[in-house]
Amino acid sequence: MRLSVIGCGYLGAVHAASMAHLGHEVVGVDVDARKVEQLASGTAPFYEPGLPELLTDVQGTGRLTFSTEMSAAAGARVHFLCVGTPQKHGEFRADLSYVDAAFTALLPFVQPGDLVVGKSTVPVGTAEDLAARLEGTGATLVWNPEFLREGFAVQDTLHPDRLVYGLPTDGDGEPTAEGVRAREVLDEVYATPLADDTPLVVTDYATAQLVKVAANSFLATKISFINAMAELCEATGADVTRLADAIGYDARIGRRFLNAGLGFGGGCLPKDIRAFMARAGELGVDQALSFLKEVDSINMRRRVRVVDLVREVCNGSIVGKRVAVLGAAFKPESDDIRDSPALSVAAQMQLQGAHVTVTDPQAVANARAKWPDLRYAATVEDAVAGADVVVLATEWEQYRALDPQTVGALVAQKAVVDGRNVLDPASWRAAGWTYRALGRP
Ligand code: UDX
Repeated sequence: MRLSVIGCGYLGAVHAASMAHLGHEVVGVDVDARKVEQLASGTAPFYEPGLPELLTDVQGTGRLTFSTEMSAAAGARVHFLCVGTPQKHGEFRADLSYVDAAFTALLPFVQPGDLVVGKSTVPVGTAEDLAARLEGTGATLVWNPEFLREGFAVQDTLHPDRLVYGLPTDGDGEPTAEGVRAREVLDEVYATPLADDTPLVVTDYATAQLVKVAANSFLATKISFINAMAELCEATGADVTRLADAIGYDARIGRRFLNAGLGFGGGCLPKDIRAFMARAGELGVDQALSFLKEVDSINMRRRVRVVDLVREVCNGSIVGKRVAVLGAAFKPESDDIRDSPALSVAAQMQLQGAHVTVTDPQAVANARAKWPDLRYAATVEDAVAGADVVVLATEWEQYRALDPQTVGALVAQKAVVDGRNVLDPASWRAAGWTYRALGRP
């Protein structure tokens, strides 16, 4: 089938390549000429494991092309909207200007019978507005949220936990005839192997839009819950990692997403919970989500706590201290630095008078562009040389595996603050280190 993918960021580029991999003829459209050029030459414009291989695989088939011109989407039967919805500057609300611009540019090229499929994370009500704007074109809007995680984006796109179709519905909440037809087309797009064993939830627009923000709110809440327990552990001398193990054995709770530490960042969870709160306020149900304010506050407090721990190991002042920060990306296996806890902590310490050097296996270039005042090192060895404190801020595999003896030979003071609870306290202490972590004695 001929498909277009509008927006070629973390979501769209992976979606376009995955759909071409499934055998469709795909054109990716993006306003960023550099990104389009890179993708067209088979290069991934950002670090995402598996994407370069996928691009190389499909390049030879001629099934995947890219363009800066929206006219390239003409002739596609399904148009996927994959543009970003960042937090509006100075507000909690989502900035819908990219969705609006992309949709407006696409409209003249939409043919009767086409599907326009929204994948971006939007405030509930957006799909209804877009559907109204499609009236008279003979095209149908479907809301089909995307749940991919950065670092696992290819795997999550080709083997999702579930698919959700938000279809046009009648007064009884049942799909209209147009909705039934839209479902058949989308089933064909996601045909085997993708949809084979994948649970499918068919619903209305409002539910489909809410599913995405509800899922992200739940995940954020789970992380902040364990980080709140970390605060209790700090006040009582308990160990949050043992606590998480113990409660996680209860299948109703589960151990995943119970890793206490510096908390969540990235381009999704923080802005999604804020946009959700803003939308609830507009809908007059802000009380229903007031707990998300706490989720956000708990999360932000962890960043302050890490700086306090660094100050403690420096005997009360970080002024003039050399601090090595391991990690700049908001999480491992990504070069994404949006709302990165690691960089937020690095910047706070720098502001408070420390000499901070940051390193990261993938994200240094992005970090330098956004935070040019921090110092950067290409390797852990360079970052930690002469350091008074080492802060592990993003749990890349190579940082988890660091040998305390080897690192100990390079630093000025053997003090480590484990912001992600991934180092073994016993072996670091045995090697002569002062080891401090969040939520652990
Ligand atoms: C998230 C959702 O998981 C995904 O379904 C959605 O489509 C987009 O948002 P992503 O932002 O890529 O994906 O990363 P995720 O793996 O969810 O991690 C988010 C943040 O939470 C990271 O900063 C991570 O370090 C942090 N985290 C995660 C914790 O602090 N503790 C945990 O136990 C898990």
